[in-house]
Amino acid sequence: MGTIKACIFDLDGVVVDTAKYHYKAWKKLGAELGFDFTLEDNERLKGVSRMDSLNILLEIGKITLTQDEKEFYADKKNNWYKAFIEQMQPDEVLPGAEAFFKAIKNDGYKMALGSASKNAVPILEKTNLLHWFDAVIDGTKTQTAKPNPEVFLLGAKALGFTPAECVVFEDAEAGVEAAINAGMKCVGIGSPKLLAKANLVIEGLHQMTLDKLKHI
Ligand code: BG6
Ligand code: MG
Repeated sequence: MGTIKACIFDLDGVVVDTAKYHYKAWKKLGAELGFDFTLEDNERLKGVSRMDSLNILLEIGKITLTQDEKEFYADKKNNWYKAFIEQMQPDEVLPGAEAFFKAIKNDGYKMALGSASKNAVPILEKTNLLHWFDAVIDGTKTQTAKPNPEVFLLGAKALGFTPAECVVFEDAEAGVEAAINAGMKCVGIGSPKLLAKANLVIEGLHQMTLDKLKHI
């Protein structure tokens, strides 16, 4: 084993395909507030916390709300989102994720989750993935949002490794920046253009191998 001893995975868009459910719920809220929320708009919400996402949505709809109203609508969106994830099946795990988890575990690497979501644990339970993770850091354990490195630094600490010993897997620009800010290597999942700051960009975990991990 080289310098890298642990992998820290973002959840939404890296391990599970939940972006579509976030989108459906935000779109429903936009419709209720009287405007159309597009798939293109949705790109701006990836990796962004629930309240920050609502603020972006309101900016797009040119709507001003009080803090109490914001809490009400954020809750409403979350309840719709929870109803979607309640129906999730293990086959909604993204291709290659479990095969890669198995490969790294067999090779002695540790694994943590580093997600902004407060729904991470129920999602990992629904999809039978919780058992893979040696540590889970989610939106219930952090004070600051990506690109702040807090979530990944807490992940490294929970696993007992230094940042330089960890690699982060991220699909959001803010997440790649958070990894860099944490002093960690980063594998971007998605567009090489959007995630240009990552050390390596792949389409999905199905393209990840132990060899790529060792040479990052
Ligand atoms: C991130 C998603 O993982 O979690 C964002 O990419 C989402 O779209 C954020 O807003 C917070 O999720 P939740 O489940 O706490 O509303
Ligand atoms: Mg993500």
